[in-house]
Amino acid sequence: MSVIVTGINGQDGYYMCKYLLEHTSFMIYGTLRYRATKLTNAKEYFPDNPRFTMLHLDITDNVNVLNIIKKVKPQYFINFAAQSFVGKSWDIPHVTWTTNTMGVINILDSLKTECSHCRFYNAGTSEEFGDVLYSPQNEDHPLRPRSPYAASKCAARHIIRVYRESYGMYAIQGWLFNHESIRRGKDFVTRKITSTIASIKKNIESGERFEPLELGNMNAKRDWGDAEDFIDGVWKMLNQDTPPSEYILSSGTMYSVRDFLEECLRVADIQWSRCDNDVYVHTTTGEVISRVNSDYYRLADVNCLMGNNKKARLELDWTPKTDFSTLVRKMFEHDYL
Ligand code: GDD
Repeated sequence: MSVIVTGINGQDGYYMCKYLLEHTSFMIYGTLRYRATKLTNAKEYFPDNPRFTMLHLDITDNVNVLNIIKKVKPQYFINFAAQSFVGKSWDIPHVTWTTNTMGVINILDSLKTECSHCRFYNAGTSEEFGDVLYSPQNEDHPLRPRSPYAASKCAARHIIRVYRESYGMYAIQGWLFNHESIRRGKDFVTRKITSTIASIKKNIESGERFEPLELGNMNAKRDWGDAEDFIDGVWKMLNQDTPPSEYILSSGTMYSVRDFLEECLRVADIQWSRCDNDVYVHTTTGEVISRVNSDYYRLADVNCLMGNNKKARLELDWTPKTDFSTLVRKMFEHDYL
């Protein structure tokens, strides 16, 4: 019995494999794209675990997808491989679409032909709700994407439903609101804040000068949860009685980028005052800790997202465990070590 998890070099792929190794007895095949410049091996991820195998897989190559599915014959296929950085998706719309939409078609079609009993999960996103009509968003909220990234995920959602309804496949895409951890990439705003503030804190303590943190839209509001809490919800979504439903996973709370920064400064115990235009100044030295740089603005941003997780709570018995302050503290303390 086996599970394929794609994108193990990303936060969610890694935590999914870890969860499955701890909670199931399946053989886990974790995949990532082949990169000649960076040699990786299974030991980097789960040293000496005989149930974990690392494979190279590029989901944009349908031959590669078909061959891996033929070889592994998985019971579950969990796809976290994606171009997942919203801001970058305007620069690379083709890569975004090819990976996030065409890649999903490649997987669906190979599963249909070679392994039609396999349960398939694709990573969906709150970004699909985009220009929201009401808050909190529930599963009935219309899809109103604002970025090439969000459009690609909406298209994937539609094609998954088509395969589910046409071929009777167990194929679903949950809506995951923002979820963070110590494995979050440093281009995403939460980890950018915690890692930069941690290094500023070290500089303050050693009396050295530092470069300020630079951020874009401080007013953007997000529903930030803990990635490890969400992985449990994904596995529950994959183990429903058939026919399966799709669910929102979210913390059900909403904070702005400004709130996140200020919470992080509190946790770091840095004394600050906020001046006009969101310039944050260190009270002792007068140095600028953080300021706005319009280079980080998006062509079209999603202003606020907050998920209604009632359906997942009731039907999947899923609850997020980590609150906002605990999440910020966990990430900052890891980066400060
Ligand atoms: N990345 C980044 N960098 N974002 C910034 C910055 C900055 O310097 N300053 C402000 N922001 C704002 C963005 O404009 C956005 O409104 C918000 O912070 C969150 O940005 P990200 O952390 O990049 O995440 P995201 O919400 O766009 O997307 C993430 O969550 C989605 C789930 O809703 C990604 O993980 C997506 O792949 C995921 O689907």
